[in-house]
Amino acid sequence: MKKRVLLVDDEEGIRTSLKMILEPTYEVICAADAHEGLDQFRREPPNLILLDVILPDSDGLTLLQTIRAEDPHIPVIMLTAMKTVKTAVDAMKMGAADYVTKPFDLEELRLIVAKALAAEDLEREVRRLRAQVVSRYAFHNLIGKSPSMQEIYSKIEQIADARTTVLITGESGTGKELVARALHYNSSRRDRPFIALNCAAIPETLIESELFGHEKGSFTDALARRAGQFELAHGGTLFLDEIGDLSLSTQAKLLRVLQEREFTRIGGSHPIRVDVRFIAATNKNVVELLRRKLFREDLYYRINVISLYLPPLRDRREDIPLLAKHFLAKRLEDEKQSPLDLSKDSLEALLKYHWPGNVRELENVLEQATVWCRGNTISPEHFPSTLRGGAQSDSLREETLSGRLPFEKAVQEFEKEIILDALRRTEYVQTRAADLLGISRRMLKYRMDSLGISRTEGHPPSDASEMVQ
Ligand SMILES: Nc1ncnc2c1ncn2[C@@H]1O[C@H](COP(=O)(O)OP(=O)(O)OP(=O)(O)O)[C@@H](O)[C@H]1O
Ligand SMILES: [Mg+2]
Repeated sequence: MKKRVLLVDDEEGIRTSLKMILEPTYEVICAADAHEGLDQFRREPPNLILLDVILPDSDGLTLLQTIRAEDPHIPVIMLTAMKTVKTAVDAMKMGAADYVTKPFDLEELRLIVAKALAAEDLEREVRRLRAQVVSRYAFHNLIGKSPSMQEIYSKIEQIADARTTVLITGESGTGKELVARALHYNSSRRDRPFIALNCAAIPETLIESELFGHEKGSFTDALARRAGQFELAHGGTLFLDEIGDLSLSTQAKLLRVLQEREFTRIGGSHPIRVDVRFIAATNKNVVELLRRKLFREDLYYRINVISLYLPPLRDRREDIPLLAKHFLAKRLEDEKQSPLDLSKDSLEALLKYHWPGNVRELENVLEQATVWCRGNTISPEHFPSTLRGGAQSDSLREETLSGRLPFEKAVQEFEKEIILDALRRTEYVQTRAADLLGISRRMLKYRMDSLGISRTEGHPPSDASEMVQ
């Protein structure tokens, strides 16, 4: 298909001659003034515009501005007489791609048009790839390229603007709150409040007043009238976190609000109507709670209109390297440290670990590692022993059973690992480390010497240990 060029010039002679030389390659549409030009531009969007600096009803610069506001990328080439070259240069500052001076060298004009179109093709491709990368690896502070995260991103996009209640489930630290925020900030409610309420953190006696608010004097401590979270979230989103921890009586009251979309303050008499989008989350197994009659079935069906399940990190290990890089970069921004890398074996350790605390645990592990790490590269010894130990013994076993590492050597390595671990846990006090291992101090010393462990091996620098305390 031919590319379309829009030519806006009031001189008929110019329109005819330009049309003639461009027509074989492009589809050329002509307009004689700004008004008609804008009309054409909107009706049949061109790939490029040739725009005269001086037009009978307006000037080219004003039209350029209008076009730029509607399409920031379309290449515009200014046509100018010698005496208006300065204006053409101003136009380039406003985003015109190039300018040609009248009378035209027709060959030059053809080249300029072809070049501008080629450049725009390239830029469009870059924009497309960039958008793809962004949507594939991250979405509203969520990082992850695994298929399950991809699915979460697209579900968020689909349901963000609905008023439907969403239930987010998943183990602790899988990113439920982050998803709730992404839903809010992707919806048309984004300029209204996002209020997060952790149901597990509020004592049962206070939860109703927290949710519904109270009138002055409605109970002993109610010294003044207070708006509840439902009211504060009006027009926005209320995120009810750890909803599995609500008592049955609060569940009943919450159900009523969800059904009626109105409530009364404690001690109040007027019902208050609210427009609130509810998002609930829990790391408990709701089906199990239902079975044990700890969660109301009717409430469950009310909130579980759409559910989002966040899989544990160990089921989407391909996200680990990306998340690790993200947290290291974030840490860098906070602390203005020099850039840190992950060594190959430390990345392997991260990939092998089973992450019971999910992304939150990964974030913590990396944060600690940046404190211990003195150089530019994080290695496994900067990780807590749970992570390192497991990973180490797993890989030793693997190496030995596949015939790559002699049995004797594996046992030695394992012994070394355990001794180093004991030393780290006892702050390098050898008598305590020996106690921990159930051997004598002399035995420990002997093993350390024969395994080649120096007294301070793996010992963190003293100022680093101060930083942690
Ligand atoms: N996909 C992700 N990308 C980037 N950061 C993440 C991601 N998932 C979780 N995090 C980070 O991990 C931490 C825990 O996330 P969040 O608080 O959303 O978890 P949660 O599922 O609500 O956990 P809990 O059930 O314990 O409340 C946060 O610091 C969050 O920024
Ligand atoms: Mg949470």
